[in-house]
Amino acid sequence: MSTIDPPFALLAELTHRCPLRCPYCSNPLELVRRSQELDTQTWQRVLDETAHAGALQVHFSGGEPTARNDIEILVAHAAKIGLYTNLITSGILADDELLARLQLAGLDHVQVSIQDTNDIIGDRVAGYQGAQKIKRKVAQQVGQLGMALTVNAVFHRQNMARVSDVIDWAVDVNAQRLEIANVQYYGWGLENRRNLMPRLSQLEEMNRVVQDRIEALKGIIVIDYVVPDYFARRPKACMNGWGRRFFNVMPNGVMIPCHAAQTIPDMEFENVQDKSVGWIWQHSEAFNRFRGTAWMPEPCRSCDRREIDWAGCRCQALALTGSASNPDPVCDKVEGHAQIREQAFSDSSLIGEKFVYRTFSGSR
Ligand code: FES
Repeated sequence: MSTIDPPFALLAELTHRCPLRCPYCSNPLELVRRSQELDTQTWQRVLDETAHAGALQVHFSGGEPTARNDIEILVAHAAKIGLYTNLITSGILADDELLARLQLAGLDHVQVSIQDTNDIIGDRVAGYQGAQKIKRKVAQQVGQLGMALTVNAVFHRQNMARVSDVIDWAVDVNAQRLEIANVQYYGWGLENRRNLMPRLSQLEEMNRVVQDRIEALKGIIVIDYVVPDYFARRPKACMNGWGRRFFNVMPNGVMIPCHAAQTIPDMEFENVQDKSVGWIWQHSEAFNRFRGTAWMPEPCRSCDRREIDWAGCRCQALALTGSASNPDPVCDKVEGHAQIREQAFSDSSLIGEKFVYRTFSGSR
C-alpha cells in the first residue's frame, strides 16, 4: 500500500503570456507559446483529477491567468467541484467587470503583486508604464467586492528601502495578508542577479523594519516574511518538501514539483495529456526522485532538521553547485556555504547593469 500523502494544492500555470516583464519572473527562460497551451476541457479534467487526488486548493497563475479568455469557466469549474480558488494576478488585465464576474463564478481569494511604491522604479522593474497605479485600483476593487486579498511584493536591492511604504500600501488597500518575498536566484532572477542582489546593510535594515512592523500591526494585517536565501543560515523547506504538498501544471500540461524544476537537466517530466494527475503524483520518477529523506546526502541525511528543511531547494542546489542532488549550500552545515555568502556579498557590491527582460508578452 502506498504511503505517499495526497497533494494539498495545484499551481495552475494557465499561460506564460503576461503584459509585465519582471526581471525575476519565476517562469522558465524558455516560455510556452500560446499555441501549445492546454485547452479549456483539458484544464477542467486536470481540476477534476486534482480534486480526486485529494487536493483542496487551486492557485490560478501564469504568466497572467486573466490573459486566458476562459478564466471564468475554469474558476467556476474549480468552485463547483469544491476546490478553494485563488487568483494570482498582476492586476493589469483585471478590470472591475472581470473581477465582479470572477467573484460570481466562485473565486475565493485574490493575490495582487506590486513591484514598488515608487511608481517610476516599479514600472521600470515591471517593464510596463502605469502598472503600479493599475495595481492599486485593482487591489482596492477586490476589497470593495468583499473578496479576500493578499498583496505580494518581491524585494531586491532596488526597492528594499521602501519596505515600510509597501506595508503601508497593503494596509491602505485593506489586504488581510502581505507576503514579503525575495528574489529567487534561478531562471530570470539568476540572469539579473547583479542588478537585484541586496547589500548586507540593506538587508539588516529591512529585517529591523519588518520585525518592528509585524509586531505593531498584529490584528490589522498578517505579514509573512522570510530572510533571503543567500543571507540565511538554514535553507528554506522549498515547496514544503519535494512532492509533499504542491505541484505545478505548466501551460502545455507538463506537471512539475516546483516552478523551477525544469532547470534540472537530467529529469523527465510527465504531461497531464498522457497520464492522470494522480498517477504522476504517486508514480512518476520526477516526483519520487527527491521525495522523503532516503535520497538525501550527508549532512542532510543525519541532520535532525531533515524533516523540517527537507534539504532545502533542489533548484538552488543545482544553480549554485551544479547538481540538484547536492545539499542546498544555503545551509551553514554544508561545504561551500562560505563561498556562497562571499559570492552574494561581492555581487551585491557591483554596479548594476541593464535588466534582461523576458520578451514574450500577451493580452486577453
Ligand atoms: Fe525547485 Fe526549490 S524551486 S526545489
